[in-house]
Amino acid sequence: MLLVLSIALASLALDQPRIPKSSNTETTTKETGPACPASNSQWRTWRDQELSRLADGRYEANARYIAAFFTKCRPALKAAPQADRCMANLQAFTRHRLLEKTPDHSLGFELTDEAYLASAPTPAFFTLPDILRRQDFLRALDRDDGKERQKALAILDRYNQERNGPSAPLSYVIFRSQDLPTPDESLARTRLLIRIPHGDYQQFVQFGLRDHRRQPLAQSVSLIAVQTSDLDTHLPLPRPKVYFNDLFRLRHSGNITFGSRLRENKGRLERCTSCHQTPVLPISPDEGFDSARFGHALADMNAHIEALQDAVVAEEPAGADGPALADHRTGSPDETFMQHCAAASGVGPESLGRVRDAMNCAECHNGQNRGTLTRMSVHEKQLPFGGNMVKRAVLSDRSMPPGVALSDPEREALYACLQTEYLGNAGEHSGQLWRWLAQDDCRF
Ligand code: HEC
Ligand code: HEC
Repeated sequence: MLLVLSIALASLALDQPRIPKSSNTETTTKETGPACPASNSQWRTWRDQELSRLADGRYEANARYIAAFFTKCRPALKAAPQADRCMANLQAFTRHRLLEKTPDHSLGFELTDEAYLASAPTPAFFTLPDILRRQDFLRALDRDDGKERQKALAILDRYNQERNGPSAPLSYVIFRSQDLPTPDESLARTRLLIRIPHGDYQQFVQFGLRDHRRQPLAQSVSLIAVQTSDLDTHLPLPRPKVYFNDLFRLRHSGNITFGSRLRENKGRLERCTSCHQTPVLPISPDEGFDSARFGHALADMNAHIEALQDAVVAEEPAGADGPALADHRTGSPDETFMQHCAAASGVGPESLGRVRDAMNCAECHNGQNRGTLTRMSVHEKQLPFGGNMVKRAVLSDRSMPPGVALSDPEREALYACLQTEYLGNAGEHSGQLWRWLAQDDCRF
């Protein structure tokens, strides 16, 4: 039951909106729905009613309805400033949920997808360097045997040798993603990730490479541009700033060109930041990684990525995804909570203290040092084949929290406790997310 509710709570982004059949406050007209509340107290009645849907999971499915209601009733809300303030989180959260489901806003920004892609400070951020457009390079990447792939890499090596510029040459690594297929027909998990420094900014260009000859050739080329200094003054930015784009390789009569995935994919991308909450993600390859050949390159790539761990995403509204997972600044979970959330994993009482100490994620994943982990990070369907980044880090990689030795059942308990603490228990208004949405210390 707990799990079912957690999934219901978490699956907001995936659900269809269900408009409440009736409203108990005001008269309803067919075109406009319930009339707008006219005072703080009417707003509170409305808010309590909407929030109470959380208990049976329906509330989450109504987030877009709530956002649309806020938009419609903007003037009424401005006339009740205390209500406006006390529903700031609810407004930001539901607005964000509405946007990512709105046509032309599939990236989840206030800007349309087209406008977002055009908003990068210079088109160069999203332009691939000539070396990556060379036909011999692209054709060699399309061949399946290792020798041809080596040819493509040799082109990159030669480019590095010939280049005597002030900045470091490009670097690359080939790996297989643990669980991410390319967003194209190939569903490839093999990647060639290339980092190209350009002085004030750098590009991470990720080519999907098909895993088997039986699969279609991968089209996907994902791009993250990270600006680290001002383009005119070259002074460092306070925090690196990140821009996302996806390209598609198009193959026409022997030629390979790059097109916009947005255009090729019927005007839809997906919200990159649902996973890229730390905007440039560390690479932790699947089993079978060729560490003899690429071990060094992987360490080098991850060092460059770690140097960008405090980056922020351009245009991303701050805090609209909910509070940071396992934020314990106002108190840690108590004994009763720990016993309850850890029960299913079968750990003994001697483990509970260790599990609670390991619920320290927000010490680093706090929006300052790194991006926060939020609702999607404990969502059972964050990743296309199921699971989520927290499960991956805690249960599969066993890399988080860093330097902490936990048994398998303790890791199961850690995951369950993190998820329960965030999303709450069935029938209780207890989860961190719910309390944040309710802003229960704000009176109106
Ligand atoms: C479902 C989760 C998810 C979504 C959505 C997603 N990514 Fe990623 N992305 C990852 C993960 C995880 C990695 C790390 C490599 C791996 O494990 O596959 C990654 C790696 C990358 C990389 C290599 C650099 C790095 O951060 O490691 C690029 C470039 C990239 N993604 C671009 C994008 C763009 C652009 C979008 C949106 C159009 C996007 N991604 C959407 C999960 C996601
Ligand atoms: C001491 C700081 C620290 C703590 C505490 C910590 N992490 Fe991390 N986390 C990192 C660093 C650094 C990385 C990137 C390097 C790596 O993967 O080892 C990372 C990477 C991750 C990633 C990959 C996606 C991303 O945001 O980069 C996940 C998911 C993650 N941690 C989850 C957790 C969870 C869950 C906890 C708590 C149980 C936790 N971490 C506690 C420092 C920390």
